[in-house]
Amino acid sequence: MDIPWWRDAVVYEIYVRSFADSSGDGVGDLAGVRERLPYLRDLGVDAVWLTPFYTSPMADGGYDVADHRDVDPLFGTLSDFEALVAAAHDHGLRVIVDIVPNHSSSAHPWFQAALRGEGRERYLFRDRTNNWKSTFGGSAWTRVEDGSYYLHLFAPEQPDFNWRNPEVHGEFLDILRFWLDRGVDGFRIDVAMGLYKAEGLPDIGDQSFKAVSPVWGQPEVHDVYRDWRRVLDGYPGERMAVGEVWTDSLEDLALYVRPDELHQSFNFAWLQAPWSAAAFRKVIDDTLSSVPFATWVLSNHDVVRHRTRYAADDPAAGPARAKAAVLTMLALPGSAYLYQGEELGLPEVTDLPDAARQDPIFYQSNGELPGRDGCRVPIPWTVDPPSHGFSPGAVPPWLPQPAAFAELSVEKQEGDAGSTLEFYRRALACRRDLVRSIPYTLEWLKSPEGVLFFTRGPLICALNCGDRPVRLPEHDEVLLASGPLRGDLLPPDTAAWLRRAS
Ligand code: NOJ
Repeated sequence: MDIPWWRDAVVYEIYVRSFADSSGDGVGDLAGVRERLPYLRDLGVDAVWLTPFYTSPMADGGYDVADHRDVDPLFGTLSDFEALVAAAHDHGLRVIVDIVPNHSSSAHPWFQAALRGEGRERYLFRDRTNNWKSTFGGSAWTRVEDGSYYLHLFAPEQPDFNWRNPEVHGEFLDILRFWLDRGVDGFRIDVAMGLYKAEGLPDIGDQSFKAVSPVWGQPEVHDVYRDWRRVLDGYPGERMAVGEVWTDSLEDLALYVRPDELHQSFNFAWLQAPWSAAAFRKVIDDTLSSVPFATWVLSNHDVVRHRTRYAADDPAAGPARAKAAVLTMLALPGSAYLYQGEELGLPEVTDLPDAARQDPIFYQSNGELPGRDGCRVPIPWTVDPPSHGFSPGAVPPWLPQPAAFAELSVEKQEGDAGSTLEFYRRALACRRDLVRSIPYTLEWLKSPEGVLFFTRGPLICALNCGDRPVRLPEHDEVLLASGPLRGDLLPPDTAAWLRRAS
């Protein structure tokens, strides 16, 4: 069998609002992405995933879609999208777009009609509520004028669709085709384990994303993905789908990637593992034994950036651990998802002023939870304020950038061999040279406690999560290291790629 492009692809997540602004309004846009494609090509990624750019009132950064077949003026036009796809393909980059099937915006014409009493069965209106909570805080139910309530698992501006209504099903098949016809290479499916809710909407105990409950992971959802798979397979060019699936276990996750369903699912177990060799090893083993095609991800637009996560017990260790973790991830069999800015070593911005925050989580929790704005701060391209090259002109970016972003900017790091950016470029180039010639499988080598050594054919990856330097396994050559080595010793918080002794 030919190896599909996505099996080993490195996919770069672009949070469009925060990547690059070409129009000068302080918000990123599609033309901004297009201008920066050479940067992504030179970084060495295979594909980009664009977060939602569709018509939206932006109650949840665009995950509240009012028109699934058009571009919000904030981000440009449909022609800008088409130009972006064409340019990406010219640069050898594939394009994955987000699709948001669990809910729409309350500004969607269907929901507006429902408020007028027309077509209510496209959403989940009830005369009485149950005890379900919104993932963002507060009740999952909002009352409308006639006294009934509608369900929203996220913000009140994101009413949940009723997937038991075939019209919803048909609508999404059509939306898929709309974007496939415009050349997209794949879809990232938002809240992929949502969509169906248990019949009768019963009260529940635990409603965490991970719990199996009447809210998430209903068996009917798999028929949706079987239908979607048929649509994708009907197009030339190996179109694919990756699900945002939060589950309790990797076995549950595996249900979504059966051969006739989704090609991939995000592997959040990897992102949730603490800085620990044992924890990493367990996730790697569990993943490789559960799913046919593994994926790995350390950061995205919903979680605290991994540089900051890994610094929880040792504030100085974040940058070194972040580089060591990504080098390890890039050596694993499967596909790797990177999040914009991690290649610059950006930290979570933890001191955003309350007035600047936009995430509904901050507002729905009455400020108790900071929300996700800290990982969404616009990218610093250049050293100079006011926006570090994010926007042309003097307009401030939609979230303020900290002064420390100057030193982390692309301009500052480019050409500096010791920078995080150049380290990512080297790692991705080396991976590209190797990835198709080494086996998809992995073997563990004996290693001291707190340390991982694994091998894939000629490649050995070594990671030291302990607190003492350890001797590297026997090798012919050091291909790459995430930090300085001390002779044959691998210092703490460091990873290395080695060519196995022949
Ligand atoms: C997951 C998305 O990644 C997140 O940003 C969004 O808030 C929720 N789904 C709701 O659409």
